[in-house]
Amino acid sequence: MATTAEYRLGENTFARGWHMIADASALGKTPMPVRFFARDMVLYRGESGTPHLVDAYCPHMGAHLGRNETSYIVRDNERIQGESIRCPFHGWRFGPDGRCNHIPYSDQKPPSAAKIETWQVVERAGIIWMWHDAEGNEPDYELPAFEAWDNPNWVRWVIDDLGELPQHPIEVVDNMTDFAHFVPIHGSRDIEYFYNEFDDHVQWQMFGAGHRTLVQEGEGLLELDTWYTGPAILQSSMRGTFPTHMLITHTPIEDGKIQVWHALMVDMGRKATEEDVPMARAYQQASVEAFAQDFEIWTHKKPCFAPLMVRGDGPTDKCRIWYKQFYNPLAQAGDFQKRVNGRHTLVDLRDAAKAVA
Ligand code: FES
Ligand SMILES: [Fe+2]
Repeated sequence: MATTAEYRLGENTFARGWHMIADASALGKTPMPVRFFARDMVLYRGESGTPHLVDAYCPHMGAHLGRNETSYIVRDNERIQGESIRCPFHGWRFGPDGRCNHIPYSDQKPPSAAKIETWQVVERAGIIWMWHDAEGNEPDYELPAFEAWDNPNWVRWVIDDLGELPQHPIEVVDNMTDFAHFVPIHGSRDIEYFYNEFDDHVQWQMFGAGHRTLVQEGEGLLELDTWYTGPAILQSSMRGTFPTHMLITHTPIEDGKIQVWHALMVDMGRKATEEDVPMARAYQQASVEAFAQDFEIWTHKKPCFAPLMVRGDGPTDKCRIWYKQFYNPLAQAGDFQKRVNGRHTLVDLRDAAKAVA
């Protein structure tokens, strides 16, 4: 596992930003232990259904709030009360603000130190997202809206859990500017255009090309607009008979180790029905198989601290500068953005064709 310090990304070990922490459909009434950002935490739904995320360990005597099946508090279904969670050991209860609000056996008011850390979470598009920020600030950019999720024309995604990858997330983000991997890894051919655009906390990749198997020769292009919103959420829109919207997202478990997920929605161009689901799942499967080609490389590669670049490689140096904004104090983010903001074009035959015409 290569660390943030080894990549010289900045002073914080983990990136500031919105990160996926759970498939919302997996979070029922039972609190879920999760470990991300080298922290043990517990995700639970209050009685309202609203998800809350708190530190796993009780400040009283250190019990884990989410790992217990035999305590009578758990058996008697007293773990969740209102929006609060009760410790299985001696029954101290904590609100979603992290403060202890009840000690069942004591007439003493809960001491002010009886407080656990909490983090902001949002449930959206079938996913529970967490705002992570070493500085403890409120989110400085919005979680993507994922509008297609609420559009009845789209078949919603199911989440592909791709498991853990013993790589620093930078190795995955590098893919955005990696022009030269499309032909050998993804089977692209006749690349028509490829450019990256950096716009503050967002990074774009615009790509249009033929493909060995997906497009017949001379029969148009596979066109993808792909973008990161912050350090960990990649979305990709592909045009075609049925437009698709893909998600790739990753969250650090430890410094240098990530959990990765994939998902894909399909636009039927009319109200989607149950009958459309198998086709949408087949699209999602094809998409995850293409992603697996990247994944295989990441699984076996060694860390790349300094790419040996040649002419024709994409602007990976710029991608890495852009990425540093999330590992340094927010006050410095603008400096990194200024260094890379704008468009960086590798290939654009469309413009060349226009120029000749
Ligand atoms: S350890 Fe949690 S209530 Fe005692
Ligand atoms: Fe790729």
